[in-house]
Amino acid sequence: MPSSTDTNDRAKVITLVQQKGGSGKSTLAVNLAAVSGQNNPPAAADDPCPVVAAGIDRQGSLEDWAARVPEDRLPFDYVVTKGRIGEIPDLVKDPAVRRVFVDTPGFMETDPDAPMDADPLGSGNTAKAMEEVLETTDLAIVPITPDWLTRRPAEFTIERVLKPRGVKFLVVINMWDSGNDRENAEGIRPELEKLRNWCRERNYPHATVAIRRYKIHSKAPEDGLTVIQYPESGTALRAREDFYKLALTVEQAL
Ligand SMILES: Nc1ncnc2c1ncn2[C@@H]1O[C@H](COP(=O)(O)OP(=O)(O)OP(=O)(O)O)[C@@H](O)[C@H]1O
Ligand SMILES: [Mg+2]
Repeated sequence: MPSSTDTNDRAKVITLVQQKGGSGKSTLAVNLAAVSGQNNPPAAADDPCPVVAAGIDRQGSLEDWAARVPEDRLPFDYVVTKGRIGEIPDLVKDPAVRRVFVDTPGFMETDPDAPMDADPLGSGNTAKAMEEVLETTDLAIVPITPDWLTRRPAEFTIERVLKPRGVKFLVVINMWDSGNDRENAEGIRPELEKLRNWCRERNYPHATVAIRRYKIHSKAPEDGLTVIQYPESGTALRAREDFYKLALTVEQAL
C-alpha cells in the first residue's frame, strides 16, 4: 500500500477487478473514465487529458472501444499495455494526470487445490501486471450483477486478492434490470435488495446507485460512444444519471 504522503500529489488509480468475465469491468472503466474526463478537462486545448484509461486485459476491450470513439469526442486518453504494466507507473507519477482507470481481465484460479491463503493470481505477464497495478491502486471497483454466478467470484476477488493486499474496494451492482424489479408493497425492489443484502451480510462497502441494464450500454462499443455521448433520450439520461452518481461515489471513496 502506498503511504499517505506519496498519494497526495500523484494520480489516483481506480482499478476494475472481478474474477468473473462479463460482469462489466470494461463497461464501468470506460464510462467512469468518460464522466471523470468530462469533469476534468485539459486546462488548455493542447494539454494532455488529466484522465487516462488503461487496459491490462490482453483482449484489449478498452482500447478497441476507445479507438472507435472519434478522438475529438473522447474525454480521456488511453494507453494500450496488452497484458503488461506498460506505462501505468509513469502515468501515475505524471503531474498532469489526476485519475487513471484500469481495466483488468477476468482471471482463473490457477490451482483450485492451492491452500486458502495462497495468492490466486498465479504467474505470467498478466498476473504480474495485475500484481503491480493492485500495488498502486487507490480504489478497486468490483462489479456484481443479478446473475448469481458473479457473486462467488466477487467474494473470491475481495477475500483472496484485495483484502490480503489491503486494497480499498467498492462493490458496484451492474446490469440491474430496473424495469422487471418492481417495488413491492413495502416499497422494496426485491432483486436490488437481494444484491445489497449480499454486500451488507459481508460488510462490503457498496455504491448506493446500481447501474441499470440498458441496451445502449451494450451497443456503445460498436457505436463508438461512451455514456456522455449517447443520443438524447430518456434512457440516455437515466444511463448518464447512473454513471454520474457512481462517479461521485467513487470520488468520495478515494
Ligand atoms: N449496465 C449494462 N447494461 C447493458 N449491458 C451491459 C451493461 N454492463 C455491461 N454490459 C454488457 O455486458 C457484456 C460484458 O460487459 P463487459 O465487457 O464490460 O464485462 P467485463 O467484466 O469487462 O468482461 P471480461 O472479463 O470478459 O473483460 C458486454 O457486452 C457489455 O456491453
Ligand atoms: Mg473486459
